[in-house]
This record gives sequence, C-alpha cells and structure tokens, in this order.
Amino acid sequence: MPITTGSDGITPREGWSSRSAFVLAAVGAAVGLGNLVRFPAEAANNGGGAFVLFYIACILLIGLPVLLSETLIGRHGQASAVESVKRMAAESRASQWWGGIAGLGVVSAFMILAFYCVIGGWVLYYIGLFAADIAQSGVTGGALTNMTAEEIKALFPNLQQDGFTMSVLDVIFVAVTLMFVARGVSGGIEKASVWLMPAFFVLLLGITVYGAFTGAFSEAIAYLFTFDASKLTGPVMLAAVGQAFFSLSLGVAGMITYGSYVGRDVNLAKTSTTIAFADTSVALIAGLCIFPIVLAAGLSSDGGLGLMFDTLPHAFQSMPFGTLIGLAFFIMVGFAALTSSISLMEVPTAWAIDKFRMGRALTATIIAVAAALLGVVSAYSFNALSGFHPLGFIPLFSGEGVFSALDSVTSKLLMPIGALLVSIFIGWIAERRLVDNENGLSGGLHRFWLFLVRWLCPLALTGILIVGIFPGLLPN
Ligand code: TRP
Repeated sequence: MPITTGSDGITPREGWSSRSAFVLAAVGAAVGLGNLVRFPAEAANNGGGAFVLFYIACILLIGLPVLLSETLIGRHGQASAVESVKRMAAESRASQWWGGIAGLGVVSAFMILAFYCVIGGWVLYYIGLFAADIAQSGVTGGALTNMTAEEIKALFPNLQQDGFTMSVLDVIFVAVTLMFVARGVSGGIEKASVWLMPAFFVLLLGITVYGAFTGAFSEAIAYLFTFDASKLTGPVMLAAVGQAFFSLSLGVAGMITYGSYVGRDVNLAKTSTTIAFADTSVALIAGLCIFPIVLAAGLSSDGGLGLMFDTLPHAFQSMPFGTLIGLAFFIMVGFAALTSSISLMEVPTAWAIDKFRMGRALTATIIAVAAALLGVVSAYSFNALSGFHPLGFIPLFSGEGVFSALDSVTSKLLMPIGALLVSIFIGWIAERRLVDNENGLSGGLHRFWLFLVRWLCPLALTGILIVGIFPGLLPN
C-alpha cells in the first residue's frame, strides 16, 4: 500500500494494489521482446548450450543482485527514480549527484521505448497478416499457403522498406501503451499485467506443447542445452551478460520506478527472486517454443530479428493449423511487448510527474508523442534515412542508423553504466543500515548478496563496458 504523499504533498502517492500485482507488473516489464526475440536469436548466434548456461549464471550472480538493489532503492525512496536515489544519498550523507544514475536511466528508457515500439509495430503487422490469412483460407492446413516461399521471404525486407507502414504501426503501438500508462499505476499499468500476463503464459505453453508434438523437440533440447565449453568465448560471455541485463530490465531505473510503488510489508528478496525466475523460465521456454518449429521445417536457426520475422512465418507455412498458431504466436509476442513498453514509458512519465508536477495523463501524452516521433525517424532509418548516421563521429557507432544506434548506445553503454553505478551506490555508498532494512535478507545469504553487489557486479559490469567499447580487445 502506498504510504507517502504524491508530488503535491497532499494526496496519497499511487501504488500497486497488492504484492502479487507488483510481481505480475514487474514480470510483465521483464518478459518481452528480449525473451522472445533476442534470447533465442542470441542463443543461436552464440552456439546454443554454452551461451544458455552462462546466461543463467549471469542472471543469478549479477542480474538478481542488481534487481534487488534497484527495487530496494525505489521502495525506500517512495518517489520517482531520481528522487528515490537522491533521498537515499541524502540519508547516507552522499552527494546529490548520485541522482544522476536515475537521470541517465530516464534518458535510456526513453530511447529504448522509441525503438521498442517500432518492433511492437512489426508484431502488429504479422498479427494482421495471419488474421487476414485466416479470413481468406480458414484455419486448417498451413499458413500463408497462397504465397510462395520467396514471397514469404520478401515480407520482412519489404516491410522494412516501407517507412510509412512501419510509422503508422509504431504510432498505434505507442498509443496503446499510452492508454495504460495514462490511467495510472493500479488503474492502468497493473490492469494490463494482471490480464495480459496470464494470457501470455497460456499461449506460450500452448504453442510450446504444440511444437513438442509436431516439431523437432529433442533436437531443440540438444541444441539449447548441450554444453560445449570450447564455445564459451569472450564475445559469447559478453553477449550473455548484456542479454541478462536487458531481459531483467536493469540499468535504466525501470525497476527503481516499479519498486517505488511497493509497500513496506513486501519482502523484496523474495519478489526479486520470483521475477528473475519467471523471466528466465520464459526465455528458456521461448527457446523450446521456437526452435522445434524452426528446426522441424529444416530452416536455419540463425539469429537476428529475422528469426522471428522471417524464419518463423516460413515455418508456420508447413505446419498443421499453421495460420492459427502463427496468429496466436504473434498475439502472444504482442502482449509481452506491450507490458514491457508500458514499463519503459512509465520511467520518464514518473520522473516528469515528480519534476514538473503535471497531471499523469498530460505528462504521459507528451512523452508518448516524443517517443512516437523518434520511432518514426527510426522506422525511416531502414529506408529513406538509411544514410543518416547520427553518431557517425564515434567510431563504435559509426555505421549505424537511428534505429540501431538507439539499440547499441543503450545496450552497450547506458545500461551497463546504469547498472554499474547502481551496484557501486548500493555496495559502497549507501548507508548499510538503510540497505539492510530494505533487502529482506539475513545471515549468510545477506553476506553473499553484499559480496556480489560490492565485488562481482561492479567488476563484471566494468568488464562488459570496456569490451563493449573496445571490441577488439577480445580474441575470437
Ligand atoms: N526486459 C524487456 C524485454 O526483455 C525490455 C525492457 C522493458 C527493458 N523495460 C526495460 C529493458 C527497461 C531495459 C530496461 O523485452
């Protein structure tokens, strides 16, 4: 229950209506395109089993400790991310500059929101495609049977050439996100998760069971879980740590913001563990959902966005009830993407509400319009604006258009910096008593967590940053 007053100092501040509402919302934030598109693609690109096992270790030893750190900062502060960090800094007699951790997060969350909703728009496109296919040819037989393999192959490249369609779909996706964020924490954000996440789980399990019976399930298991230590190279480890952070929504103040709506009675160590467990399970199940289908169709499981938007539609063509499964699949992805984009929009919205003391609906709308504009520019960066490289002057990002620059800058730079600063702040700067009161841990587990936050997380994150900036340092 909310225990503090809102930005006007009089009305009670918003909060989750229960502990399970918080867990569902945080799982909704964590589970998204990262689990469904990025995890399987990264696993495929990085040699399967070695990546997967290292990824799980990263979640447990680096992701989970930072997740607990972020939520405890928010819960302690009971204010937007920047205010929450400042509050804890003040009580620890540390510099107010620490608030900058969250300020950076607000910027990153906005940047991720912009390109994330473009991908959300692609998902809408495929929902429309399969729905139209059902209207035309019914649900029995395979999907898209009136198209040749070449035509299906051309769908995704053609969409990427069509800046206008992508922009319209992006705007629709942003608008739907806004509808929930504008309604507030318990009235909107929580409602979305409470309805969409259970529906998501049912769809995911249903399609996975379908794939287990009709697809190449045992090949997929072998592919994902055969551990070959020789494949565990520097770049693979780097990809795994980066993916762990993206998937748990860390380093951009998102979990600080969600934590700030949590009541005092909640044990954050337990909820963080549940959230990390659910997020990792979904990533693994997504692999077990996608690879049997792809492998059974004899298609290459090469990674990248093409795995979902090119290879899968292809695979559905030859499967029984392929259209129906295709439609269910993309609706499921849409649900997961929506609860994540909601969390991304909430970070800058909560910050601006606190900062400018404006109403929620107006604030969220302004942010949504700005994100849609940046999204449209990203959509055109695949076609008309492909020659525009906004960060061309930085060697690391030189060849990248707006869409991929937003992705790279946030995942290679801003998110690791954000998470690094959070672990330093909690491990070294914040007063022990404040942290101990919030984290819900005791005894040996408490000491172990502290060790991870003080030593392992900062070292690992510094490593990722350095290697992310100087990729040449890693032998292949
Ligand atoms: N974790 C989400 C995913 O896996 C994406 C996401 C939502 C995110 N909110 C975030 C990533 C905040 C980083 C920060 O798709």
